Amino acid sequence: MSLRRGAGPAPIVVDRREEAEIALAREIIALVQERRRVVIGLATGSTPAGVYREIARLRAEERIDFGAVETFNLDEYLDLPRDHAHTFARWTRERFHAPLGISSERAHCPPSDDYESQIRDAGGIDLQILGIGRNGHIAFNEPGSTRESRTREVELHAWTREDAAAAFGGLESVPHRAMTMGVATILEARKLRVLAFGPRKVEIMKRVLEDPIGPEIPATFLREHRDLVLWLDREAAARI
Ligand code: F6R
Repeated sequence: MSLRRGAGPAPIVVDRREEAEIALAREIIALVQERRRVVIGLATGSTPAGVYREIARLRAEERIDFGAVETFNLDEYLDLPRDHAHTFARWTRERFHAPLGISSERAHCPPSDDYESQIRDAGGIDLQILGIGRNGHIAFNEPGSTRESRTREVELHAWTREDAAAAFGGLESVPHRAMTMGVATILEARKLRVLAFGPRKVEIMKRVLEDPIGPEIPATFLREHRDLVLWLDREAAARI
């Protein structure tokens, strides 16, 4: 692996994505076993799904109580009915909150006018799970998002809408707007755990790790965080 310009820890490259999924699931389970009251930031999409499956499996096996865990979703589409099949709130309820027995009062989701104060009132996010978009977005902080950005409404980038088109049954059904935590909100989480898998992420992961840190590729800001772990599989790491 060549040396990267700029700050940030070296990524952990795994042969199979399941190795990263198991490692992160075990870290989260250990945190919950140790402290019970843990605040977790949740990403949605294809990247973290295996982590949530593994957490649910381990939790059932080891009978761990997630009842005091609180969660904050990273983002949500706007202009969809609240219970639409493709809301991220529903996605995380089905894959995370329901299997783990986390009540809806503890499962915070945008859109919300006071999301930042809800996060503060919960004591801040202990561990934030993140995937990375093909354009370098984190949550829906699309290219151009600044280091200081906070929870807000955003216009989705063309690639983000294209990537969602299959799930929505066509590009015309994909919303144009979303609400997202900001870059500053994300960087305040005490631990950042980032995953990127597969050949679709190869070009962007090279830029995330090697480009100058800045709004053009918002995920470059992750390199400034003090407790960042980034897992890549061999395919995503092919050009690093
Ligand atoms: C989703 C989110 C997005 C995704 C990113 C990667 O809550 O915040 O930033 O993490 O678009 O998506 P996948 O994992 O589907 O490749």
